[in-house]
Amino acid sequence: MSDKKATLGLEGKEAIDLPIYSGTLGPDVVDVGALTAQGLFTYDPGFVSTASCESKITFIDGGKGILLHAGYPIDQLAEKSDFLEVCWLLWNGELPAEEEKEAFVQRVTKHTMVHDQMNNFFQGFRRDAHPMAIMCGVVGALSAFYHDSLDITNEKARDISAVRLIAKMPTLAAMAYKYSIGEPFVYPRNELGYAENFLHMMFSTPCEDYKVSPTLAKAMDTIFLLHADHEQNASTSTVRLAGSTGSNPFGCISAGITALWGPSHGGANEAVLDMLAEIGDVSRIDEFVAKAKDKNDPFRLMGFGHRVYKNFDPRAKVMKEKADEVLGELGLTNDPLLAIAKRLEQIALEDEYFIEKKLYPNVDFYSGIILKAMGIPTSMFTVIFAVGRTPGWIAHWNEMISNPYKIGRPRQLYTGPTQRDFPSSEDQG
Ligand code: SDX
Repeated sequence: MSDKKATLGLEGKEAIDLPIYSGTLGPDVVDVGALTAQGLFTYDPGFVSTASCESKITFIDGGKGILLHAGYPIDQLAEKSDFLEVCWLLWNGELPAEEEKEAFVQRVTKHTMVHDQMNNFFQGFRRDAHPMAIMCGVVGALSAFYHDSLDITNEKARDISAVRLIAKMPTLAAMAYKYSIGEPFVYPRNELGYAENFLHMMFSTPCEDYKVSPTLAKAMDTIFLLHADHEQNASTSTVRLAGSTGSNPFGCISAGITALWGPSHGGANEAVLDMLAEIGDVSRIDEFVAKAKDKNDPFRLMGFGHRVYKNFDPRAKVMKEKADEVLGELGLTNDPLLAIAKRLEQIALEDEYFIEKKLYPNVDFYSGIILKAMGIPTSMFTVIFAVGRTPGWIAHWNEMISNPYKIGRPRQLYTGPTQRDFPSSEDQG
């Protein structure tokens, strides 16, 4: 922390000094705690200018399009690391030594199965239930099976809960998919890698094994990795707020899944594909760009814009390279949706409106094109985002619980009726 301060002049009152703290990177912050004693609150709907916590996990420079996990740039991690190694990095703040990584991979592998009674939960859902609705339910339900590790003050309980969540999310995700198509659940295989195992559980059947292509397994692993964490985004902030009440980690992650589902957040990858399909042809792009620019039209170009990035989302750059690689491997380089996406990106990046509002493609713009090419249905796209984001969610939850914290309880600007008495029977006539 620093000895810098901001002085706030208050009409008719003594000016007050507010401490300013500096981080290792990013803007300074003003500690406004002293305002309450002055009978004042800050007012910042959407928390556009609010730092909700101190964190060491991830840093984003939105102006430069930089994303660091414990200081490592996302493009270097995507090229040189893998998803489980990034899970370790987010939790521990350092890359694992070789033997640490091997032991961690083994631990996760041994926890990929879910309690067989979990299968019964699925039977209660309609077959056409959205997989995210199923995930909200079954992930929260994990807390009904792990009474041995719900004591959040116990570091070992927090650690095993994190391993169980990272390990079981792909299994539950694949179960949600299999349930929706009426195929039997496929058990994880311990000899397979994390992303390979997920694709196996998604596409194998009891009648024949699905041979996972190494290119698709690597692409899937990279997609998980690119989604792993992103500072205090809406779903991570939801996990922190839920966790601040002392709630168990499984319930907190379920809350995060619910927040992620919205089309303004993780639901955007599904919405991008729906939008590209609605555009249908490159010739109709101008019509949709005009709608996106029309203030009276609620339509937005899904996959564009970001609260923090006012430059290219570095994840979108890697995702775009992966899209070319996967579609090339699958012989789909002429995929009409990819052609529409690339043309849309080009137009949007040249259009005055998008330049002025600094609207660039974000992580969701290309991910759906890769997932669709891999045979994954659009309804599963946000589920895959949730699998990838789980290590980030649980790392932030653990960072909060491992340090002194307070229950999150914002105040408000009240503009409702002032106090009044309940009408007497006479008044009521
Ligand atoms: C994710 O927070 C994270 O880190 C999220 C995420 C993560 O990893 O956790 O990165 C994942 O959620 C990525 C974003 C996915 N969502 C979308 O792609 C949906 C489309 N994008 C928008 O809805 C919007 O850009 C947001 C929600 C992402 C950001 O909204 P903000 O920061 O609240 O910005 P805003 O709505 O105030 O927009 C600023 C201006 C507005 O115009 P004016 O009111 O100033 O005239 O830009 C316009 C908006 O109308 N605008 C768009 C637009 N996004 C913003 N106009 C057209 N198309 C768009 N996509």
